[in-house]
Amino acid sequence: MIKSRLCEMIGTKYPIIQAGMGPFSNNNLAVAAANAGVLGLLSTSGLTSRDQQPFVYDAFIKSAEASPDDDMPTAIKKVLKRTHRLTKDKGGIFGINVMVAAEMAAEAKIIIDTAIRVREENPEMKKNFKVIFTSAGDPVGWKDKIKGAGFTWMHVVPSVKGALRCKKAGVDVIVASGHEGGFHTSWEPVHSMILLPAVVENVSDEKTLVVGAGGFCDGKTLAAAFVLGADGAQMGTRFLATEESDFHQIWKEAVVAAGDRGTLVARGFVGPARWIKNARSEEHAKNTLKKSPGVFLGVPDDFTTIDMSLIQFELDSIKAVYEGNKEKALMAAGEAAQRINNMPKVNDMVQTIVKEAEDILRGIQKKHLS
Ligand SMILES: Cc1cc2nc3c(=O)[nH]c(=O)nc-3n(C[C@H](O)[C@H](O)[C@H](O)COP(=O)(O)O)c2cc1C
Repeated sequence: MIKSRLCEMIGTKYPIIQAGMGPFSNNNLAVAAANAGVLGLLSTSGLTSRDQQPFVYDAFIKSAEASPDDDMPTAIKKVLKRTHRLTKDKGGIFGINVMVAAEMAAEAKIIIDTAIRVREENPEMKKNFKVIFTSAGDPVGWKDKIKGAGFTWMHVVPSVKGALRCKKAGVDVIVASGHEGGFHTSWEPVHSMILLPAVVENVSDEKTLVVGAGGFCDGKTLAAAFVLGADGAQMGTRFLATEESDFHQIWKEAVVAAGDRGTLVARGFVGPARWIKNARSEEHAKNTLKKSPGVFLGVPDDFTTIDMSLIQFELDSIKAVYEGNKEKALMAAGEAAQRINNMPKVNDMVQTIVKEAEDILRGIQKKHLS
Protein backbone atom coordinates (compact mmCIF):
# COMPACT_ATOMS: atom_id res chain seq x y z
CA MET A 1 0.00 0.00 0.00
CA ILE A 2 1.15 3.48 -0.81
CA LYS A 3 2.31 5.48 2.23
CA SER A 4 4.50 8.38 3.22
CA ARG A 5 5.64 10.48 6.16
CA LEU A 6 2.68 12.79 5.48
CA CYS A 7 0.27 9.99 6.46
CA GLU A 8 2.26 9.35 9.64
CA MET A 9 2.33 13.04 10.55
CA ILE A 10 -1.38 13.83 10.19
CA GLY A 11 -3.05 10.41 10.25
CA THR A 12 -4.51 10.27 6.73
CA LYS A 13 -4.74 6.97 4.86
CA TYR A 14 -3.24 8.40 1.67
CA PRO A 15 -0.51 10.99 0.98
CA ILE A 16 -2.81 13.37 -0.88
CA ILE A 17 -4.08 16.84 0.02
CA GLN A 18 -7.32 18.19 -1.45
CA ALA A 19 -6.38 21.81 -2.08
CA GLY A 20 -8.23 24.67 -0.47
CA MET A 21 -10.00 26.51 -3.31
CA GLY A 22 -12.10 29.65 -3.37
CA PRO A 23 -14.22 31.58 -4.04
CA PHE A 24 -16.69 28.74 -3.51
CA SER A 25 -16.56 26.97 -0.17
CA ASN A 26 -15.06 23.50 0.02
CA ASN A 27 -17.54 22.59 2.75
CA ASN A 28 -18.90 19.46 1.07
CA LEU A 29 -15.75 18.68 -0.90
CA ALA A 30 -13.56 18.69 2.22
CA VAL A 31 -15.91 16.26 3.98
CA ALA A 32 -15.87 13.90 0.99
CA ALA A 33 -12.09 14.15 0.67
CA ALA A 34 -11.44 13.58 4.38
CA ASN A 35 -13.78 10.58 4.39
CA ALA A 36 -12.00 9.20 1.32
CA GLY A 37 -8.75 9.07 3.30
CA VAL A 38 -6.94 12.23 2.14
CA LEU A 39 -6.51 15.59 3.87
CA GLY A 40 -9.66 17.65 3.20
CA LEU A 41 -9.10 21.40 3.28
CA LEU A 42 -11.85 23.90 3.96
CA SER A 43 -11.52 27.13 2.04
CA THR A 44 -12.16 30.41 3.86
CA SER A 45 -11.69 32.98 1.09
CA GLY A 46 -15.48 33.16 0.52
CA LEU A 47 -15.91 34.30 4.10
CA THR A 48 -13.98 37.49 3.49
CA SER A 49 -16.29 38.58 0.63
CA ARG A 50 -19.38 39.59 2.57
CA ASP A 51 -19.31 43.29 1.62
CA GLN A 52 -17.78 43.19 -1.85
CA GLN A 53 -19.35 39.97 -3.18
CA PRO A 54 -22.37 39.07 -1.03
CA PHE A 55 -23.38 36.24 -3.43
CA VAL A 56 -20.05 34.52 -2.65
CA TYR A 57 -20.69 34.84 1.08
CA ASP A 58 -24.26 33.61 0.73
CA ALA A 59 -23.23 30.47 -1.17
CA PHE A 60 -20.60 29.77 1.46
CA ILE A 61 -23.05 30.24 4.31
CA LYS A 62 -25.61 27.95 2.71
CA SER A 63 -23.18 25.06 2.35
CA ALA A 64 -21.96 25.63 5.93
CA GLU A 65 -25.46 25.25 7.42
CA ALA A 66 -24.93 28.74 8.84
CA SER A 67 -27.15 31.81 8.66
CA PRO A 68 -26.67 34.93 6.51
CA ASP A 69 -26.87 36.96 9.72
CA ASP A 70 -23.88 35.17 11.21
CA ASP A 71 -20.68 37.15 11.53
CA MET A 72 -17.44 35.58 10.30
CA PRO A 73 -16.39 33.90 13.60
CA THR A 74 -19.87 32.37 14.05
CA ALA A 75 -19.86 31.07 10.47
CA ILE A 76 -16.39 29.56 10.99
CA LYS A 77 -17.50 27.89 14.19
CA LYS A 78 -20.52 26.38 12.45
CA VAL A 79 -18.53 25.09 9.49
CA LEU A 80 -15.89 23.51 11.72
CA LYS A 81 -18.49 21.81 13.88
CA ARG A 82 -20.36 20.60 10.79
CA THR A 83 -17.19 19.22 9.21
CA HIS A 84 -16.28 17.45 12.44
CA ARG A 85 -19.77 15.97 12.77
CA LEU A 86 -19.58 14.60 9.22
CA THR A 87 -16.02 13.22 9.38
CA LYS A 88 -15.65 11.85 12.89
CA ASP A 89 -17.26 8.43 12.31
CA LYS A 90 -14.99 7.66 9.37
CA GLY A 91 -11.90 9.16 11.01
CA GLY A 92 -11.56 11.77 8.25
CA ILE A 93 -8.77 14.30 8.69
CA PHE A 94 -9.38 17.92 7.78
CA GLY A 95 -7.81 21.35 7.95
CA ILE A 96 -8.52 24.95 7.10
CA ASN A 97 -6.91 27.03 4.36
CA VAL A 98 -6.27 30.66 5.27
CA MET A 99 -4.79 33.22 2.89
CA VAL A 100 -2.35 35.39 4.85
CA ALA A 101 -1.47 37.94 2.14
CA ALA A 102 -0.79 41.39 3.64
CA GLU A 103 -4.11 42.66 2.19
CA MET A 104 -5.96 39.95 4.13
CA ALA A 105 -3.93 39.86 7.36
CA ALA A 106 -6.73 41.21 9.58
CA GLU A 107 -9.24 38.61 8.35
CA ALA A 108 -6.59 35.87 8.50
CA LYS A 109 -6.01 36.62 12.17
CA ILE A 110 -9.73 36.40 12.95
CA ILE A 111 -10.05 33.09 11.07
CA ILE A 112 -7.00 31.50 12.71
CA ASP A 113 -7.88 32.76 16.22
CA THR A 114 -11.43 31.44 15.80
CA ALA A 115 -10.25 28.05 14.52
CA ILE A 116 -7.93 27.69 17.50
CA ARG A 117 -10.62 28.73 19.97
CA VAL A 118 -13.26 26.40 18.49
CA ARG A 119 -10.90 23.41 18.71
CA GLU A 120 -10.01 24.28 22.31
CA GLU A 121 -13.71 24.46 23.19
CA ASN A 122 -14.37 21.11 21.46
CA PRO A 123 -11.34 18.96 22.32
CA GLU A 124 -12.82 15.86 20.62
CA MET A 125 -12.23 17.76 17.36
CA LYS A 126 -8.49 17.30 17.80
CA LYS A 127 -8.69 13.77 16.33
CA ASN A 128 -9.95 15.11 13.00
CA PHE A 129 -9.24 18.84 12.72
CA LYS A 130 -5.45 18.71 12.57
CA VAL A 131 -4.14 21.21 10.06
CA ILE A 132 -3.89 24.95 9.55
CA PHE A 133 -2.79 25.56 5.98
CA THR A 134 -1.64 29.13 5.27
CA SER A 135 -1.05 30.49 1.79
CA ALA A 136 -0.51 33.58 -0.35
CA GLY A 137 1.72 35.43 2.09
CA ASP A 138 4.67 35.46 4.46
CA PRO A 139 4.67 32.57 6.95
CA VAL A 140 6.95 34.34 9.43
CA GLY A 141 5.07 35.46 12.51
CA TRP A 142 2.33 32.80 12.59
CA LYS A 143 4.25 29.99 14.33
CA ASP A 144 3.47 30.79 17.96
CA LYS A 145 -0.26 30.92 17.32
CA ILE A 146 -0.53 27.82 15.10
CA LYS A 147 2.10 25.53 16.59
CA GLY A 148 1.37 26.81 20.10
CA ALA A 149 -2.18 25.48 19.70
CA GLY A 150 -0.89 22.06 18.62
CA PHE A 151 -1.83 22.14 14.94
CA THR A 152 0.24 20.73 12.10
CA TRP A 153 1.20 23.78 10.05
CA MET A 154 1.41 23.71 6.25
CA HIS A 155 2.28 26.63 4.00
CA VAL A 156 2.43 26.92 0.22
CA VAL A 157 5.31 28.54 -1.70
CA PRO A 158 6.29 29.09 -5.35
CA SER A 159 10.08 29.18 -4.88
CA VAL A 160 13.10 27.85 -3.02
CA LYS A 161 13.43 31.30 -1.41
CA GLY A 162 9.87 30.97 -0.09
CA ALA A 163 10.58 27.43 1.13
CA LEU A 164 13.64 28.60 3.07
CA ARG A 165 11.48 31.32 4.64
CA CYS A 166 8.99 28.61 5.68
CA LYS A 167 11.76 26.61 7.25
CA LYS A 168 12.88 29.66 9.21
CA ALA A 169 9.26 30.26 10.25
CA GLY A 170 8.89 26.69 11.60
CA VAL A 171 6.41 25.28 9.05
CA ASP A 172 5.94 21.47 9.27
CA VAL A 173 4.89 20.75 5.69
CA ILE A 174 6.05 22.98 2.84
CA VAL A 175 3.89 22.75 -0.27
CA ALA A 176 5.86 23.65 -3.40
CA SER A 177 3.40 25.00 -5.94
CA GLY A 178 4.50 24.93 -9.58
CA HIS A 179 3.31 27.16 -12.40
CA GLU A 180 0.99 24.46 -13.76
CA GLY A 181 -1.33 25.07 -10.80
CA GLY A 182 -4.76 26.65 -10.86
CA PHE A 183 -5.74 30.20 -9.92
CA HIS A 184 -3.09 32.34 -8.21
CA THR A 185 0.39 31.72 -9.50
CA SER A 186 3.67 33.44 -8.83
CA TRP A 187 5.09 36.68 -10.27
CA GLU A 188 8.24 34.72 -11.12
CA PRO A 189 6.89 31.26 -11.84
CA VAL A 190 8.74 27.94 -11.89
CA HIS A 191 7.15 24.66 -13.00
CA SER A 192 6.79 21.63 -10.71
CA MET A 193 9.42 19.54 -12.53
CA ILE A 194 12.10 22.02 -11.47
CA LEU A 195 10.59 23.55 -8.34
CA LEU A 196 9.67 20.40 -6.44
CA PRO A 197 13.07 18.63 -6.46
CA ALA A 198 14.78 21.97 -5.79
CA VAL A 199 12.60 22.60 -2.71
CA VAL A 200 13.12 19.00 -1.53
CA GLU A 201 16.90 19.39 -1.87
CA ASN A 202 16.86 22.64 0.10
CA VAL A 203 14.47 22.06 2.99
CA SER A 204 13.37 18.45 3.40
CA ASP A 205 14.71 16.81 6.56
CA GLU A 206 13.52 14.60 9.42
CA LYS A 207 11.23 17.37 10.72
CA THR A 208 10.24 19.21 7.54
CA LEU A 209 8.14 17.53 4.86
CA VAL A 210 7.62 18.68 1.28
CA VAL A 211 4.50 18.17 -0.83
CA GLY A 212 4.19 18.93 -4.55
CA ALA A 213 1.35 21.01 -6.01
CA GLY A 214 0.59 22.17 -9.54
CA GLY A 215 -0.17 19.57 -12.21
CA PHE A 216 -0.80 16.59 -9.90
CA CYS A 217 -4.06 14.92 -10.83
CA ASP A 218 -3.73 11.13 -11.13
CA GLY A 219 -1.64 8.10 -10.20
CA LYS A 220 1.11 8.93 -12.68
CA THR A 221 1.66 12.40 -11.25
CA LEU A 222 1.36 11.20 -7.63
CA ALA A 223 4.06 8.61 -8.36
CA ALA A 224 6.13 11.37 -9.99
CA ALA A 225 5.89 13.45 -6.80
CA PHE A 226 7.50 10.59 -4.88
CA VAL A 227 10.17 10.12 -7.52
CA LEU A 228 10.97 13.84 -7.22
CA GLY A 229 11.48 13.37 -3.48
CA ALA A 230 8.18 14.69 -2.12
CA ASP A 231 6.14 13.23 0.74
CA GLY A 232 2.87 13.60 -1.15
CA ALA A 233 0.89 15.64 -3.65
CA GLN A 234 -1.73 18.37 -3.34
CA MET A 235 -4.44 18.36 -6.01
CA GLY A 236 -6.73 21.29 -6.71
CA THR A 237 -8.19 21.18 -10.20
CA ARG A 238 -8.69 17.40 -9.96
CA PHE A 239 -10.86 17.74 -6.83
CA LEU A 240 -12.73 20.74 -8.25
CA ALA A 241 -14.25 18.56 -10.99
CA THR A 242 -15.92 16.00 -8.73
CA GLU A 243 -19.50 15.23 -7.92
CA GLU A 244 -19.28 16.54 -4.36
CA SER A 245 -17.34 19.72 -5.19
CA ASP A 246 -19.11 22.90 -4.07
CA PHE A 247 -18.11 24.80 -7.23
CA HIS A 248 -20.79 25.94 -9.69
CA GLN A 249 -21.66 23.35 -12.29
CA ILE A 250 -20.49 25.58 -15.18
CA TRP A 251 -17.01 25.80 -13.57
CA LYS A 252 -16.80 22.03 -13.05
CA GLU A 253 -17.96 21.40 -16.62
CA ALA A 254 -15.45 23.91 -17.96
CA VAL A 255 -12.62 21.96 -16.30
CA VAL A 256 -13.81 18.71 -17.88
CA ALA A 257 -14.25 20.42 -21.27
CA ALA A 258 -10.84 22.17 -21.29
CA GLY A 259 -8.65 20.49 -23.86
CA ASP A 260 -5.10 20.72 -25.09
CA ARG A 261 -3.55 24.06 -23.94
CA GLY A 262 -6.80 24.80 -22.16
CA THR A 263 -5.59 27.49 -19.73
CA LEU A 264 -3.87 30.88 -19.81
CA VAL A 265 -2.35 33.31 -17.32
CA ALA A 266 -3.74 36.83 -16.75
CA ARG A 267 -4.17 39.19 -13.79
CA GLY A 268 -5.94 37.83 -10.73
CA PHE A 269 -7.10 39.47 -7.52
CA VAL A 270 -3.79 39.07 -5.67
CA GLY A 271 -1.42 38.64 -8.62
CA PRO A 272 -1.09 36.50 -11.75
CA ALA A 273 -3.72 33.78 -12.08
CA ARG A 274 -4.29 30.75 -14.30
CA TRP A 275 -7.72 30.74 -15.97
CA ILE A 276 -9.56 28.31 -18.22
CA LYS A 277 -9.19 29.58 -21.78
CA ASN A 278 -12.38 31.13 -23.21
CA ALA A 279 -13.26 34.39 -24.98
CA ARG A 280 -13.61 36.18 -21.64
CA SER A 281 -10.20 35.09 -20.27
CA GLU A 282 -8.56 35.88 -23.63
CA GLU A 283 -9.97 39.42 -23.38
CA HIS A 284 -8.69 39.60 -19.78
CA ALA A 285 -5.21 38.46 -20.90
CA LYS A 286 -5.11 41.16 -23.59
CA ASN A 287 -6.12 43.81 -21.02
CA THR A 288 -3.51 42.44 -18.62
CA LEU A 289 -0.82 42.83 -21.27
CA LYS A 290 -1.78 46.49 -21.65
CA LYS A 291 -2.51 47.43 -18.05
CA SER A 292 -0.42 45.07 -15.90
CA PRO A 293 2.41 43.77 -18.14
CA GLY A 294 4.39 42.89 -15.00
CA VAL A 295 2.25 39.73 -14.88
CA PHE A 296 4.24 38.53 -17.92
CA LEU A 297 7.55 40.20 -16.99
CA GLY A 298 7.77 39.21 -13.34
CA VAL A 299 7.30 42.77 -12.08
CA PRO A 300 4.67 42.89 -9.31
CA ASP A 301 2.07 45.58 -8.90
CA ASP A 302 -0.39 45.83 -6.04
CA PHE A 303 -3.54 47.67 -5.08
CA THR A 304 -1.60 50.94 -4.87
CA THR A 305 -0.38 50.81 -8.48
CA ILE A 306 -2.65 48.50 -10.45
CA ASP A 307 -5.28 49.70 -12.92
CA MET A 308 -8.38 48.74 -10.94
CA SER A 309 -10.41 48.07 -14.09
CA LEU A 310 -8.64 44.70 -14.25
CA ILE A 311 -9.79 43.83 -10.76
CA GLN A 312 -13.31 45.04 -11.54
CA PHE A 313 -13.35 42.86 -14.68
CA GLU A 314 -12.46 39.86 -12.53
CA LEU A 315 -15.10 40.68 -9.91
CA ASP A 316 -17.76 41.06 -12.64
CA SER A 317 -16.67 37.78 -14.23
CA ILE A 318 -16.81 35.87 -10.95
CA LYS A 319 -20.30 37.29 -10.35
CA ALA A 320 -21.23 35.93 -13.78
CA VAL A 321 -20.25 32.43 -12.61
CA TYR A 322 -22.69 32.63 -9.71
CA GLU A 323 -25.37 33.73 -12.22
CA GLY A 324 -24.54 30.77 -14.47
CA ASN A 325 -23.53 33.13 -17.28
CA LYS A 326 -20.95 31.16 -19.30
CA GLU A 327 -20.18 33.99 -21.73
CA LYS A 328 -19.05 36.41 -19.02
CA ALA A 329 -17.51 33.87 -16.64
CA LEU A 330 -13.84 33.74 -15.67
CA MET A 331 -13.04 30.37 -14.14
CA ALA A 332 -9.66 29.38 -12.74
CA ALA A 333 -8.04 25.98 -13.18
CA GLY A 334 -4.64 24.41 -13.52
CA GLU A 335 -3.03 23.00 -16.64
CA ALA A 336 -4.18 19.63 -15.29
CA ALA A 337 -7.63 20.53 -16.65
CA GLN A 338 -6.50 19.23 -20.01
CA ARG A 339 -5.94 15.80 -18.45
CA ILE A 340 -9.27 15.71 -16.61
CA ASN A 341 -12.13 14.20 -18.58
CA ASN A 342 -14.64 13.14 -15.96
CA MET A 343 -16.48 14.27 -12.84
CA PRO A 344 -16.29 11.26 -10.50
CA LYS A 345 -17.30 10.79 -6.90
CA VAL A 346 -14.38 11.77 -4.65
CA ASN A 347 -13.96 8.35 -3.04
CA ASP A 348 -13.92 6.49 -6.40
CA MET A 349 -11.42 9.00 -7.76
CA VAL A 350 -9.07 8.68 -4.78
CA GLN A 351 -9.16 4.88 -5.07
CA THR A 352 -8.34 5.08 -8.78
CA ILE A 353 -5.46 7.51 -8.20
CA VAL A 354 -3.95 5.46 -5.39
CA LYS A 355 -4.23 2.15 -7.26
CA GLU A 356 -2.66 3.66 -10.38
CA ALA A 357 0.22 5.14 -8.36
CA GLU A 358 0.84 1.83 -6.61
CA ASP A 359 0.87 -0.10 -9.90
CA ILE A 360 3.22 2.44 -11.46
CA LEU A 361 5.67 2.46 -8.57
CA ARG A 362 5.79 -1.37 -8.55
CA GLY A 363 6.04 -1.49 -12.35
CA ILE A 364 8.86 1.04 -12.49
CA GLN A 365 11.01 -1.11 -10.27
CA LYS A 366 10.40 -4.17 -12.45
CA LYS A 367 10.87 -2.33 -15.72
CA HIS A 368 13.84 -0.13 -14.95
CA LEU A 369 15.93 -2.00 -12.36
CA SER A 370 17.76 -5.23 -13.06
C1 LIG B 1 -10.37 27.38 -8.57
C2 LIG B 1 -9.17 27.40 -7.70
C3 LIG B 1 -9.19 28.15 -6.54
C4 LIG B 1 -8.07 28.20 -5.71
N1 LIG B 1 -8.13 28.93 -4.55
C5 LIG B 1 -7.11 28.87 -3.67
C6 LIG B 1 -7.21 29.48 -2.40
O1 LIG B 1 -8.22 30.10 -2.04
N2 LIG B 1 -6.16 29.36 -1.55
C7 LIG B 1 -5.03 28.67 -1.92
O2 LIG B 1 -4.11 28.57 -1.12
N3 LIG B 1 -4.91 28.10 -3.12
C8 LIG B 1 -5.91 28.16 -3.99
N4 LIG B 1 -5.82 27.53 -5.20
C9 LIG B 1 -4.60 26.78 -5.53
C10 LIG B 1 -4.73 25.36 -5.03
O3 LIG B 1 -4.76 25.37 -3.64
C11 LIG B 1 -3.62 24.41 -5.49
O4 LIG B 1 -2.40 24.76 -4.96
C12 LIG B 1 -3.49 24.31 -6.95
O5 LIG B 1 -4.77 24.18 -7.50
C13 LIG B 1 -2.66 23.13 -7.30
O6 LIG B 1 -2.59 22.95 -8.66
P1 LIG B 1 -3.56 22.01 -9.51
O7 LIG B 1 -4.77 22.83 -9.74
O8 LIG B 1 -2.76 21.74 -10.72
O9 LIG B 1 -3.85 20.81 -8.70
C14 LIG B 1 -6.92 27.47 -6.04
C15 LIG B 1 -6.92 26.70 -7.22
C16 LIG B 1 -8.01 26.64 -8.03
C17 LIG B 1 -7.99 25.78 -9.25
